[in-house]
Amino acid sequence: MSTRFDRLPRLGVGLSGEFGSSAKGINVLELRAKRPDLVHFFEFGADLDRGLDEHVRMWAAEGLPTTYHFLDINLAESEDVDERWLSRTSARAREISAAWLCGDAGLWHFGARERGHQVLLPPVLCLDSAVETAENIVRIEELTGFAVLPENPPSVVYLGPLHILDYFAEVSNRSGCGLLLDCAHLAIFQHLRGLQPLAGLDGFPLDRVVEMHVAGGTVKELDGFSYVDDSHSPEPIPATWEIFEYVVERAPNLKAIVYECEYNDRARCIPTFERLNAAFPATPQPAVIAT
Ligand SMILES: [Fe+2]
Repeated sequence: MSTRFDRLPRLGVGLSGEFGSSAKGINVLELRAKRPDLVHFFEFGADLDRGLDEHVRMWAAEGLPTTYHFLDINLAESEDVDERWLSRTSARAREISAAWLCGDAGLWHFGARERGHQVLLPPVLCLDSAVETAENIVRIEELTGFAVLPENPPSVVYLGPLHILDYFAEVSNRSGCGLLLDCAHLAIFQHLRGLQPLAGLDGFPLDRVVEMHVAGGTVKELDGFSYVDDSHSPEPIPATWEIFEYVVERAPNLKAIVYECEYNDRARCIPTFERLNAAFPATPQPAVIAT
């Protein structure tokens, strides 16, 4: 059965980055040169003020795939979807031939857009917010021509009655959009609510999952309050792997997996890149026919 996701390319496993990260952390071009079997695309985190950097431009100039991860749009607020953001974002995404736009849905700033904010608050998990987010996604997709994949954001506090998976299921049902499931962020949410890692996935539209994120986390405790810090350290926590293994087997339209690790020592990240590529090859393996 064909779906609206058929036109999106299968990218395989990629590395996350942002302005200057290839100079300060893992250099995506060097990693690709050393291990072309591990990194197949570059997900570039960007905002209007900083724009693109030389490394993502060099990567794209080689004809290698990218995705554009926004860091400055409040998907849950219609007034934030303004003409300046739409035109500049789509121009830059086109410049690097991004396969799609994606990023955490919620509030990247409080009040007017200001790059220094980057607060990244989650949306209030209620139906009204899901409706507004869905409407904004439809508008951005129409006006930019790019598919928009909202991502479940991290937090130490989530407000609202809905489970975060139900919130994004509602967003997708209303807008028709694909979804970016960040397995580490979901593990953070489940931990805070005292739920099992896979809780709620049985009602989640896995056929809408186009991209997944995997990243390391750190379990912390403060005055008896236990939470998972979204530290992006090299090692994902067991709950993140449990979510990943469950979804990767059940998401027929999955196109891309990002390992968010760009500020770590490269050597420490290789085993996870290898594990992700084994689970999700850039080119699907042909079925073995018994003779
Ligand atoms: Fe993420």
